Amino acid sequence: MEKKFRLLFVCLGNICRSPAAEGVMQRIVAERGLEHRFEIDSAGTYGGHAGDLPDRRMRVHARRRGYDLTHRSRRVTGDDLEQFDLIVGMDSSNVYDLRSMAATVEETAKIVPMGRFIRRFPHYDYVPDPYYEGSEGFELVLDLLEDSCEALLDFILAEKL
Ligand code: 4NP
Repeated sequence: MEKKFRLLFVCLGNICRSPAAEGVMQRIVAERGLEHRFEIDSAGTYGGHAGDLPDRRMRVHARRRGYDLTHRSRRVTGDDLEQFDLIVGMDSSNVYDLRSMAATVEETAKIVPMGRFIRRFPHYDYVPDPYYEGSEGFELVLDLLEDSCEALLDFILAEKL
């Protein structure tokens, strides 16, 4: 049996952006018939929402596009940096926090910003926190994730598998 590629999405609270990224990526991977080759999870650098479902607004907006987000929030751990193959931070602050947790150069090398994979939205080089925004903020997150997850999967298939 081939070893699964372990992909972790990380944001601040793990109730908006990263659980949405997990849902979007799961669908793209399934559409390409690759679900058996991936393990996809998400976590947050802040543990204050641990155990919670994604934010209701995020679930509502995701549901309209057919994503059912059922992840329970958890804080990212040092073990995650060791266990996962690629760790994707939604913004520069997430990437900074992840890098400060890395114990080895190998772990540091696993951390990448999601902004690197945004193609269709040239004005964005990160996925902005929607928590204090209105509906447009949540729609923007989903637009950015649907775009960037495609390029992220292409990158993994070309460079990592
Ligand atoms: P997320 O959004 O990082 O995309 O899950 C946030 C969720 C909660 C908070 C901030 C951002 N918070 O401050 O509680």
